[in-house]
Amino acid sequence: MKNEQSHRVPTSDDIEVSTYLGIAKELHGEQSAPELKPLPPEERETIVVIDFGSQYSMLIARRIRECHVYCELVPWDTPWQKIAPLNPRGFVLSGGPASVYNPGAPVALSYVYDKHLPVMGICYGMQVITHQLGGQITPGEKHEYGHAMLYLNTEDCPLFAGLPPSFSVWMSHGDQILNLPKNFKTLAYTDNTPVAAMGSDDGVFGLQFHPEVIHTPMGKTIFQNFVYKVCGCQGNWTSANFITESIEKIKKQVGDGKVICALSGGVDSAVTATLIHRAIGNNLTCIFINNGLLRRQEPERVLNTFLRNLKLNVTYVDASERFLERLKGVTDPEVKRHTIGEEFIKVFEEEAAKLGKVNFLAQGTLYPDVIESSSASETKASATIKSHHNVGGLPAKMKLILIEPLRYLFKDEVREVGMALGLPEDMTWRQPFPGPGLAIRIIGEVTKEKLETLRAADWIVMNEVKKAKLYRQLWQSFAVLTGIKSVGVTGDYRSYGYTIAIRAINSDDAMTAEWTRLPYDLLARISDRIVNEVPDVNRVVYDITSKPPATIEWE
Ligand code: XMP
Repeated sequence: MKNEQSHRVPTSDDIEVSTYLGIAKELHGEQSAPELKPLPPEERETIVVIDFGSQYSMLIARRIRECHVYCELVPWDTPWQKIAPLNPRGFVLSGGPASVYNPGAPVALSYVYDKHLPVMGICYGMQVITHQLGGQITPGEKHEYGHAMLYLNTEDCPLFAGLPPSFSVWMSHGDQILNLPKNFKTLAYTDNTPVAAMGSDDGVFGLQFHPEVIHTPMGKTIFQNFVYKVCGCQGNWTSANFITESIEKIKKQVGDGKVICALSGGVDSAVTATLIHRAIGNNLTCIFINNGLLRRQEPERVLNTFLRNLKLNVTYVDASERFLERLKGVTDPEVKRHTIGEEFIKVFEEEAAKLGKVNFLAQGTLYPDVIESSSASETKASATIKSHHNVGGLPAKMKLILIEPLRYLFKDEVREVGMALGLPEDMTWRQPFPGPGLAIRIIGEVTKEKLETLRAADWIVMNEVKKAKLYRQLWQSFAVLTGIKSVGVTGDYRSYGYTIAIRAINSDDAMTAEWTRLPYDLLARISDRIVNEVPDVNRVVYDITSKPPATIEWE
């Protein structure tokens, strides 16, 4: 779905900071730090998801993590040496776009069967098992896509424990099982698929449907059964465990070294900084750069949280004027991004240089970014955040080692950790905000006046959305200062004022998004308030475009 040519990034929030600073790693290369993994190998119980390239692979990992079991997604050809340290308790084979009979179609490496650990193959994963263990696949008479009723023909299979005899599942496949491999039994069927689930006595299962998608409402129970009943996991993957383990690891890794961390105000850098601060106290310096493109009261709120509540060592730099100066006359969105990026690096370098010797750079990279940038598969978006924002880097002489304590977490896990660390709710639940800030929500040149206009409108949108208790449900909701001016009447006078666009979207990952059907009353309140309270605005429109084809941001 992602446009490889696009400058856009697939994730958000603290992306600016990680983007700008991530470049440091690329430029200064081989400084790789020992990886910070949350649980030590002997205690870790990992379910390894073997990725055959399905669009749902990451969802499988999410579902397993929701069971409080640690899980990693690895490309199908990952060798055992890399898997062994994870202390795997079972494997899930993902779906994938291939057909097992295609030349060169990916299959499971021998350890998946030889280690005698439980295995659950989903869709293509089931076909791989069938093919490799001696069964037969056939192209289905018709491609089955969508809801289907699944009928169990077993009552005592641990994978389906606690489930009713029939339930709705989501199908998406062409090929299906013709002959089972030796020692396998059919566990369930649908009207179109005689073998919709199969299993062997030694814990190898295949599901032709997708338990990971929300359209399979009982899917969660299947994952719980697999990890607890079949694999025997304890479910020790909790925020509290993660926090303790991470702090220990950071202490060990950093010793007496000095760490810098750029704060953006978003949850990722906030959680990163708080964890590191718990581990090494004031050997962490956070740098918070106000680029003048933040929302109303944002700098004050961020500073307040970090200085007063969390008592972090924060250097605040108000560089608004510098950024605005650089943005003069700039109208092209890409040039805007690069200009802001370059200036950010400059300011950051200057501040970091004042701190003397610094050894580590902390960054709020999340698991989806890691998966995306390390994906070997051609089918996955390989353009990474970093290449989207090739804006320069930190000076080679800094030679910083990266610390990324969140690199195995999903966004909602970061939020849970944030809550467990005692971060205020409005920080942990903050909607993603782009690094270039309001600059990419002002079409055309960015000026102080336009920023003020947009801030005022944005404030109203946020306020009303929060009052309507919709803030957390929306991926993002914000105002855009369109470049359009139009005619209106204010009192008895003709006006010629700005048009503000309201954007509210629902999304799981920002790769795709649907425009939100906000209640009309809410839209009416927002519109009334904006035209009444924000000078120079006489028209408000609602953006009713999904992504694709539109992007979330207007620039
Ligand atoms: P688009 O507009 O590409 O946005 O649909 C996807 C997500 O990324 C955010 N976004 C950015 N974040 N720097 C960032 O840090 C950027 O240049 C940028 N552009 C878009 C956007 O807010 C949404 O969450």
